[in-house]
Amino acid sequence: MDIKKGDTIELTIEKVVYGGRGLAHLNNMAIFVANTAPGDRVTAKVAKVKKNFAEARVLEVLETSPNRIISPCPYSDYCGGCTWQFIEYEKQLEYKYAFVEDLLNHIGKATNFQINHTLPSAQIFGYRNKMEFSFSDKRWLLPEEKDKKMDDKNFALGLHVPGTFDKIIDIDGCLLQKEEGNEILREVKRFVKDSGIPAYGLKTHQGFWRYLMLRHSHAFNEWMVNIVTSQERDAPVQALASVLRDGLKGIVSIVNNINTRKGGTAIGERERILAGERNIRDKIGAFIFEISANSFFQTNTPLSQRLYQTVKDFASLTGKETVLDLYCGIGTVSIFLAPVASRIIGMDISNNAIADARRNCQLNSIDNCEFLCGDVRMLLSQYSVKLDLLVTDPPRVGMQRQVIDQVLRLLPDRIIYISCNPATLARDIALLKERYKLEEVQPIDLFPHTYHIESVARLERV
Ligand SMILES: C[S@@+](CC[C@H](N)C(=O)[O-])C[C@H]1O[C@@H](n2cnc3c(N)ncnc32)[C@H](O)[C@@H]1O
Repeated sequence: MDIKKGDTIELTIEKVVYGGRGLAHLNNMAIFVANTAPGDRVTAKVAKVKKNFAEARVLEVLETSPNRIISPCPYSDYCGGCTWQFIEYEKQLEYKYAFVEDLLNHIGKATNFQINHTLPSAQIFGYRNKMEFSFSDKRWLLPEEKDKKMDDKNFALGLHVPGTFDKIIDIDGCLLQKEEGNEILREVKRFVKDSGIPAYGLKTHQGFWRYLMLRHSHAFNEWMVNIVTSQERDAPVQALASVLRDGLKGIVSIVNNINTRKGGTAIGERERILAGERNIRDKIGAFIFEISANSFFQTNTPLSQRLYQTVKDFASLTGKETVLDLYCGIGTVSIFLAPVASRIIGMDISNNAIADARRNCQLNSIDNCEFLCGDVRMLLSQYSVKLDLLVTDPPRVGMQRQVIDQVLRLLPDRIIYISCNPATLARDIALLKERYKLEEVQPIDLFPHTYHIESVARLERV
């Protein structure tokens, strides 16, 4: 029997695959089903059929997996903020370990390496130090809201339905951030709804309010609020800043990023300070970091200390080494390694991050780091230095082919690859295989309730 789009089928979920979906088989066809766990027996409607696989949507769970629990979040069946709250945390860790191991074996073609137990997150709720909420001129309705009479269907401030750019669920709180963050979210929502100024339409590209980004400092319990708008207009953003400053405690920085471009990003072409400082400070281990609104900072602060400690342990530096820190961000890795290295060179494409990195060195009295701003592809091609260690921490897409080629030209003795995407980590390890052998991997669960997993990999030159 051929499987066709629109068919209703019965499936037993065998495992979850990287990307978070459940996998089942019917008539030798692999079928992926979101929001399922191994052991679930479900009826599902086929949504897409390709040559070798199909995708289906759950209609009913007939028998539940023993790994299921009740999600505490009311939006969890629909929201893309996190998609695994219905799976026990211990099982999440097990599945993620299997992702890393499988991808390194099958895509990375790596053999005889050590993979350590996943370091869990001590906090599995309220762990995120940064959240980005989108405004929309059209609220995506939850099933129970569809037949309700509502006078605010033309407004939403919240998170995306998974895999969509324009479907925003209006939410009153997210369990991944601290409750004070949810108070700021609700206060901003009240103000913006009453402002009479429209929210930005993700399809129409009309409207003013675009994003609300919140950052929390774990060490100092302080908040940064970044209001992203489509134009520069003083009165409404200043009024919102006053309401926040007067009504809520702990906000030390309120900034306004102005993004006039159509592309969906919270990074503006211009940034204005509305109240307090331009940056927020946090602490990891013994070091203090100043972070500006648009710079990258690991989102799970307590566990990032374990991440950087793992890098330091894998590096085994003696104080004599020259280290290249690719995709260095605000200088976290460089500063962690600086006391045990001779010289560190950091590279990042973001001006803001490089300015933060230089300031952070001063703040921590570190004087053996230098930072270059630019695309690593260009910077590396002009670079020639004898390297003992290369630390690389690229975005999800991994390293570009030209960057790998430059690494193979520079030939550092050791590479430590920090990755938030085991699929691109595995691909890049395969590309480095001729000259580097994967020796050890440490998965770290920086992202509970999502399928995402951070890994630190140690490769030695052969
Ligand atoms: C995952 S973050 C790593 C930051 C840092 N290592 C840390 O732990 O905080 C990736 C960084 O890569 C930078 N980046 C992205 N594409 C880049 C490119 N083509 N060249 C240089 N840096 C890039 C981003 O600005 C970001 O700071």
